[in-house]
Amino acid sequence: MSVSSVPPNDVTEGQAASLIRSLRDTIAQANKDYHQRADPHITDHEYDVAKERLRNLEDQFPHLASPDSPTQTVGAPPIEGFKKAEHSRRMLSLDNAFSLQDLDDFMARVRRFLGMAEVEPLEVISEPKIDGLSLSLIYKNGQLEQAVTRGDGHVGEVVTANVRTIDDVPQKLVNAVSDYLEIRGEIYMSHMDFQKLNESQLKKNEKVFANPRNAAAGSLRQLDPQVTAARPLQFFAHGWGRCDSSLGDTQSDAMAAISEMGFAVNPHLQICHDIDSAAAEFQRIEKIRSSLGYDIDGVVIKVNLLSLQKRLGNSTTAPRWAIAIKFPAEAAWTRLKAIDIQVGRTGALSPVARLEPITVGGVTVSNATLHNEDYIKGMGSDGAPIREGRDLRIGDRVKIYRAGDVIPKVADIDISARPNDATPFEFPSSCPVCGAPTSRPDGDAVRRCTAEFTCPAQRLEKLKHFVSRPVLNIDGLGDKIIEQFFEQKILEEPADIFLLETSFKEKGIDLKEMDGWGEKSVNQLFAEIESKRVVPLARLIFGLGIRHVGEVVADRLARHFVDWDTLINSVAPSSQSAENVSNQLVDIEGIGDKIATAFHKAFSDHTFRQSIDRLVAQVTILPHEMDKGGTNPLAGLTMVFTGTLKAMTRAEAKVRAESLGARIAGSVSTKTSLVVVGDQGGSKARKAKELGVRLVTEDEYLEMIESHQIE
Ligand code: IVH
Repeated sequence: MSVSSVPPNDVTEGQAASLIRSLRDTIAQANKDYHQRADPHITDHEYDVAKERLRNLEDQFPHLASPDSPTQTVGAPPIEGFKKAEHSRRMLSLDNAFSLQDLDDFMARVRRFLGMAEVEPLEVISEPKIDGLSLSLIYKNGQLEQAVTRGDGHVGEVVTANVRTIDDVPQKLVNAVSDYLEIRGEIYMSHMDFQKLNESQLKKNEKVFANPRNAAAGSLRQLDPQVTAARPLQFFAHGWGRCDSSLGDTQSDAMAAISEMGFAVNPHLQICHDIDSAAAEFQRIEKIRSSLGYDIDGVVIKVNLLSLQKRLGNSTTAPRWAIAIKFPAEAAWTRLKAIDIQVGRTGALSPVARLEPITVGGVTVSNATLHNEDYIKGMGSDGAPIREGRDLRIGDRVKIYRAGDVIPKVADIDISARPNDATPFEFPSSCPVCGAPTSRPDGDAVRRCTAEFTCPAQRLEKLKHFVSRPVLNIDGLGDKIIEQFFEQKILEEPADIFLLETSFKEKGIDLKEMDGWGEKSVNQLFAEIESKRVVPLARLIFGLGIRHVGEVVADRLARHFVDWDTLINSVAPSSQSAENVSNQLVDIEGIGDKIATAFHKAFSDHTFRQSIDRLVAQVTILPHEMDKGGTNPLAGLTMVFTGTLKAMTRAEAKVRAESLGARIAGSVSTKTSLVVVGDQGGSKARKAKELGVRLVTEDEYLEMIESHQIE
């Protein structure tokens, strides 16, 4: 049944019995989908509403209540495949509130329970409610011993090996206060990492996750820890289970102690002296919600004094000393006006939904991603039906889901509101930009334009890629400007960037006179371009935008060929047979057939080759190992970067350090020689300290390499 069809509570007993049955079924199914399969089919809000209605009905008809009702239990039993472990103390759920009035009621309830007068102070703490998965971490003598998911609250799955791959979870505590300590918290995935993961899943034709929480759940529950290791999971501690000694007198002191031990604690934990400041804090968090970079679904208010928490105790499913105030749902219904097809850098045809603008979670949404043609047809990447196989048609009433900063998605279709004349969407068989035929190889979810190097859309996107931060990183040449220059035929391929000043002159256009430009910005742009004429080999290869040749592959190729001439002589089809080229390439560690073919195909394309030659004439390509040895401070070092860097992206820092002779590792070990700590580089920095590895700040690092800058 659909949750929204549940009528209000003036029901007969017979109706109540049947409603209760369906609500229990709905909730049990949702629990299974959410906890076991990490693939929910109803939204959190619908789930909460269903549970609330069930609770009301059970309150109204107490003899219809039952101990195995979902109102009396937490989550779902553990899934097969993992070892199970019993929690020494039950992992509870939280009671939900949906308004500030509910917060008032909660505070009044607490006071009543404790016999506290209105005037007596009652301090609480407020903390974002992380939309992730609960996890219990057991430390014995300061060493991580076991990690267990919540499961049904009594028994969870043992995921220790997987959790050991998560940077935020310390293997060893800095200051173990107790021989036995159980830390509880939330595993989550940031919006950025979620987006990147989905992009790479899509490329690999693997399952795309509906939201960061599903991605986190799917990543944690991998039978192969290596898969988890490759997924960027994070952890916030928000409490503890069994602990043999005191962590403090208050929740806030205990959380400070937990942070001291090396755990990430949410930076927005706030002590509130009264209900007004708690309400204000809820509103503040709601405002900054979309800028946090990870999903939260509400704010948790907890009584601060641990002695009071102890007196309040727990109900069957939740502590009486805490409440979760949930944000309004981030889903809304609107109309699908059109489906546009965008052509990407490697020719992928990506459908985009154009919507009747609608506010979802406080943000106006007018576009949503539709992934690929199967998705429109109602089929997932695994070939199984999604939305019960309902296809998307122009004119449909669609439900839009949006989580934080993540690109909005179409979560559902209301078939009953479908216009009579709506016809199935016909995915184009030719490129909507250049008209070339499209192709979709077997087993590939993506349809592509086949005019790889001549299609204007692909050329424009390749150009944008070449200018982007991880490649040339040209400040002042954003996507909009590139589009404009592309249309004016001043900028059509990478080489044109370096000819920009001359081209304007030749065409008799004075850029300074153009809208949005002035003397200063024009001079700055030309100076910036000049400063980017020296390009490290790996960046140049990556910048060419060849399919399957990402940063890592580009780096491998650069390492192998060392300089441009060697590379071009080895892959240029004029001097080598195709087979020879492919054989050479697949001999390189980490280069398979797919990459070799794509690379070879690109270099055999006349148009592409000519445009590369024109580019090479404009730039100086730094050989890969140019700076190794000698006085170079990074030669032979194994380095780790952690935290957010100010002056450059991670990709950039990596390429630069590697071009200066360093090897970059993902985690700190005894083999690490240098750790560069950016903003919030918590656990890796701590680990480096523990192991006595040399730590430098980003500024110190920049100073170290200053005389060896490549630009
Ligand atoms: S305190 C229930 N604080 O929400 C025991 N929980 O819906 C006290 N959660 O299972 C939990 N963020 O895993 C607490 N800041 C936070 C939280 C949080 C997320 C999770 C927690 C719990 C679930 C209940």
